[in-house]
Amino acid sequence: MSQKYEGVTVVDHPLVEHKLTIMRNKETSTRGFRQLLREIAGLLTYEATRDLPLEELQIETPLTAMTGRKIAGKKLVYASILRAGNGLLEGMLDLVPSARVAHIGLYRDPETLEPVEYYFKAPDDLSERTVICVDPMLATANSAVAAVEKLKGRGAKDIRFVCLLAAPEGIERFRAAHPDVPVFTAAIDSHLNDHGYIVPGLGDAGDRMYGTK
Ligand code: PRP
Ligand code: URA
Repeated sequence: MSQKYEGVTVVDHPLVEHKLTIMRNKETSTRGFRQLLREIAGLLTYEATRDLPLEELQIETPLTAMTGRKIAGKKLVYASILRAGNGLLEGMLDLVPSARVAHIGLYRDPETLEPVEYYFKAPDDLSERTVICVDPMLATANSAVAAVEKLKGRGAKDIRFVCLLAAPEGIERFRAAHPDVPVFTAAIDSHLNDHGYIVPGLGDAGDRMYGTK
């Protein structure tokens, strides 16, 4: 793990880098892309949940009584920014199957790059839960900033943001808007191009995941 920006953890584990390189390759199939995203999601979740509080629990093994530890408090909420967030969500649910799920419907207008909201549904007790907001791409960060604003508006206080790729421009904008929200990413790329795409990036995450282009 490395930290080039305050509050931003780059999960640069060899398994993550290996899988990400295959995902970036334009020859990788839709099926392969989706599978790799699911696998990397588990590895990102492992880091994003590292500091969750634990509480003690008395149990009996077949041999003796012992004090174990389990995650304290209410179940986690994963908040997926549609639609590409759902690709990460699958792998995150593999790791924490009991998590609750919020859906935030947003797409970015291709001309203005501004987010357009079309759907929101979340558990109503967000203020009592840790919320992990997920979207593979943090480009301009317009979508992520709007999604986290929405979650805060519904009461969420303990929020983390998990993505696969981030642009430096997006990180700076996101951290300025939400300095209380730590970011976990597999890589920070070079820059955004004139159309707001991450370079070198991997293209349009939603299209590559669902085969829509
Ligand atoms: C992509 C991506 C993010 C957003 C990132 O979604 O999944 O949500 O763009 O860009 P930004 O940081 O500049 O806001 P897109 O709008 O293409 O929608 P989709 O997931 O439905 O394909
Ligand atoms: N959304 C994507 O899917 N890819 C990018 O590079 C930027 C925004």
